[in-house]
Parts: sequence; structure tokens; C-alpha cells
Amino acid sequence: MGKARDAGYEAMVVTVDVPVVGSRERDLRNGLAVPPRVNPRTGADVLSRPRWLAELLTGPGVTFANFTDLVPRTGTSGLAAMTAGLLNPGHTWADLEWMVAEWGGPVMLKGVMTGEDARRAADLGCAAVAVSNHGGRQADGLPGALDVLEEVVDEVGRDVEVVLDGGVRRGTDVVKALALGARACLVGRPWVFGLAAGGVEGSVRAVEILREEIDRTLALIGRPGVGSLDRSALSARSTRGWRPLAEPAGCACGSTDPHRRS
Ligand SMILES: Cc1cc2nc3c(=O)[nH]c(=O)nc-3n(C[C@H](O)[C@H](O)[C@H](O)COP(=O)(O)O)c2cc1C
Repeated sequence: MGKARDAGYEAMVVTVDVPVVGSRERDLRNGLAVPPRVNPRTGADVLSRPRWLAELLTGPGVTFANFTDLVPRTGTSGLAAMTAGLLNPGHTWADLEWMVAEWGGPVMLKGVMTGEDARRAADLGCAAVAVSNHGGRQADGLPGALDVLEEVVDEVGRDVEVVLDGGVRRGTDVVKALALGARACLVGRPWVFGLAAGGVEGSVRAVEILREEIDRTLALIGRPGVGSLDRSALSARSTRGWRPLAEPAGCACGSTDPHRRS
């Protein structure tokens, strides 16, 4: 914590939904391993992308810049061991209480899926909770984060910031979450998809696309900004989840900054 504070970080996120690594069967099926294992299939995959391979071999070595002085030995095997060491299924609420006091700044508890846990986090001094099931990649069979968002907002929305995490792929997803009372959304994979498609610029573009879609959705449903979103912007729950509902055209007053919240 001292290192993060010295580096200028002001807020801390404590993730609680990965006490152990989930069994990701698709990764197992695809042979994903850290460090990567070369077998006929992955070998053929790499050889079929000569430009990527050439850049990898001639470019600067791939390192994990954030971890260089933490990882005992270079390479992905060191990183895998370090990451595994960070997981601790023995943590309790008492540890969170200690972390909040020790950190002294805002703490967001990430991985909350019930109003009851959110209340406990708020009572222990957390400034925010992230409603999240880790993108559905940890425990199987959990409800979606959006499904429990209302419950959490209703319980603690007046006391702490509530943030929605997981499954945000479109601007409409953000609009739905904000309408249900979330203060903001987190995205995990979209910036990685952008990175894979176009490097750093691709990641920036992924965020821009989300922003454009938010603006378009707000315009289409006749809301002048995110501050004017509330549950009346949503139709009844359908099998496909919450849907934005357009207001009568007369309500679409002149658009101001769509990101300003009242
Ligand atoms: C490359 C990558 C690294 C991640 N690392 C962390 C992490 O260190 N801590 C954490 O709490 N969540 C981590 N996550 C999970 C995301 O924060 C997020 O909860 C999850 O991906 C769900 O969002 P999504 O549906 O937009 O992907 C990571 C996700 C990705 C894709």
C-alpha cells in the first residue's frame, strides 16, 4: 500500500471475487497456459502469422512493466507464480476493515453481488462498490451483474458510489446501467479487444466507440445527458434484459454535454 501511495495513487480497488482461480474450460480446451506451451497447434498458429512473429523476435522484449521489481524471475512463469501468490481465500471482512483504515483514501470493493454485502462494505468505510461477477468468468451460474444492480443501488446508492462491471460492450449497456442507478461502468475486455485489433490506438478507439454509442443512445431516447437518466428510461424487463425506451419526441430537449451529471 505504501508503494502505491508513494506512486501517487489516490484510490484503491480491492477485488473479492477471485479468492481462487475459476476453472475456465474454454481456456483449457484451447490449451491456454502461462507460460505459453508450444504444441503442434499453437506452433502452427504462430507460424501462420509471420509478421507478428517477426515483430516479436525483432522488437523490444515483452516485459510486465508493472511487476519488474516484484517478479522473482523474468518471464511469464514468474508472473504466474506471483499472481497465484496474490490470491488468498482466507481474507475476511476484518481484513477489509484494516485495509480501509491503513489506506486512508477511497476504497472500492469490487465483486459485490448482493445488497447485504454492499451494505457491509459501506458500513466498513468503502467509498464505492463495483457490482461484478468478474465478467462471468469465475463462479459459474451466478446472476449477471446488471440483474443485481438495482438491489445494490437501492441498498447503498445514497451512501456510496455504485459502479457496474462486466458485460459492457455497447453504449446502450452503459445507458442501462446508469439508468438503473450506477454512477459509472467499468470495462475489462473491450479495451483488450481494441488492443488486439489496433494496439494502443485500438484501445483508445474502443473507448471512443463506447462514448459515441452512449451519445447516440441518449439522443435516440430523448435524454439530454446522462444526468437525466433514471429508471423511467427503461422499459419493463424482457428476456433480453433492460431496454432503453424512447421518450415522446417532444421531450427531446436541446442536447447539452451528455456526460454532465446534474
Ligand atoms: C486482461 C485483463 C486483466 C484483468 N485483471 C484484473 C485484475 O487484476 N483485477 C481485477 O479485479 N480484475 C481484473 N480483470 C477483470 C476485469 O476488471 C472485469 O472485472 C472483467 O473483465 C469483467 O468485465 P468485462 O465483461 O468488460 O470483461 C481483468 C480483465 C482482463 C480482461
